[in-house]
Amino acid sequence: MSNTKFLWGAALSANQCEGSYDVNGRGLSIIDKLPTGENRFKVMSNPVKYINEEFPHYPSRHGIEFYKHYKEDIKLLAEMGINSLRISMSWTRIFPTGKEDKPNEEGLKFYDDLINELLKYNIEPIVTMSHFDTPFYIAENFNGWADKGTIDSFYKYAETILHHFNGRIKYWIPFNEINMILHLPYVGGGIIDTKGDLKEKIKYQSAHNQLVANAMVCKLAHEINKENLMGCMLAAGNYYPQTCKPEDNLLAINKNRETYLFIDVQARGYYPSYAKKKIESLNLDITEEEIELLKNTVDFISFSYYNSKVCSSDNVDGAELTAGNIFKSIKNPYLKASEWGWQIDPVGLRVTMNDLYDRYQKPLLIAENGLGAKDELVDGRIHDEYRIEYLKHHLENMKLAIEDGVDLIGYMPWSALDLISASTGQISKRYGFIYVDLDDNGEGTYKRYIKDSYFWYRDYIKNNK
Ligand code: BG6
Repeated sequence: MSNTKFLWGAALSANQCEGSYDVNGRGLSIIDKLPTGENRFKVMSNPVKYINEEFPHYPSRHGIEFYKHYKEDIKLLAEMGINSLRISMSWTRIFPTGKEDKPNEEGLKFYDDLINELLKYNIEPIVTMSHFDTPFYIAENFNGWADKGTIDSFYKYAETILHHFNGRIKYWIPFNEINMILHLPYVGGGIIDTKGDLKEKIKYQSAHNQLVANAMVCKLAHEINKENLMGCMLAAGNYYPQTCKPEDNLLAINKNRETYLFIDVQARGYYPSYAKKKIESLNLDITEEEIELLKNTVDFISFSYYNSKVCSSDNVDGAELTAGNIFKSIKNPYLKASEWGWQIDPVGLRVTMNDLYDRYQKPLLIAENGLGAKDELVDGRIHDEYRIEYLKHHLENMKLAIEDGVDLIGYMPWSALDLISASTGQISKRYGFIYVDLDDNGEGTYKRYIKDSYFWYRDYIKNNK
């Protein structure tokens, strides 16, 4: 893979952009049930209680209406000079409940048009099959990925798109941020009920079910076309020990293993020895056949990187924690933070890249990296020098990691356009190179405006081809 062109891209996801949630046969996805504002976290963390409560605004249902605007958006992105775009497909556009025998042709047609539009501009599609997008029907009736039947449902969907887009899409990522299932089981796996005492068991069983599905899809993709390249996707960012106390260091190793567990399986093909004790204690349902299937590994390691974390073996009650992040950690005094409290650590990107490459020796892809910030539209322009600074420092460290010897195949900053934030449901937490005129209540014209970071990234790509 090392002789292929470097993928200069950007990223987005169906659930945060497409909107048009009920047109042309699309079914409801888990994300369509999440409101915005304070209620969002309440529903995400306790769906049993709140999932069917009515809220005034569900931002993903309309996203930024990429479904309607994709031609104009892709044209703008092509003019920015990208040669690749990470998108995701919405499972429920193709299988509205996830349980149909046959796909929804109108759903496939939308992605035919979208992929063809990308190819028209020589933009390589990198496609995530499930980006926080389990069908709500499967969540409500089968408890999402807790049910082994979901493996077959996902396989049918994956098989359909792998055949349908064979030759047009080469880079596939079955699951976005697969480790998210342990932290937000509803978002990561459509799991509504974690049943008190069985919480750990249900989360790890669901994780195992996704790992099996991932392996089955990798096997199939390689059989369908040996040119297909399969990737895992990790929400990365290492834990640093708070001090040089040996116990802090040991804790950091163990905390990082909670994350690496997934990629250890996806990249090496078996559960690592450190996980065996946990799996046995939870008495998971794992068959011999599944262990055999896990040997079907990924070709590249993709990951999102937003921040590093800090841990301490001491009692940290009362310590200052980072705000607004699913991966809450002790505050790192050496780092600045975004307006949402996400700590900014460009060197941490270099650390993460070196760590991942040492561990797996497979090519890496940065599938997400970016700054969520408030932008101000002034006379049709957005002067987002803070975003440029952020990207510049991360790119510097990315280059240093390459000099360290890491094999990196591409960089997909988050995000191509402003989109709905996964954790908060706000669009005001803007990540894009392209501004979308919309507010957190869903009011606005959906008109697109170019930000200064767009021109900066365009020039950066031009100078680094
Ligand atoms: C990753 C997700 O967790 O981080 C994206 O894959 C998400 O979907 C991104 O948007 C940034 O997080 P947030 O919560 O600020 O949108």
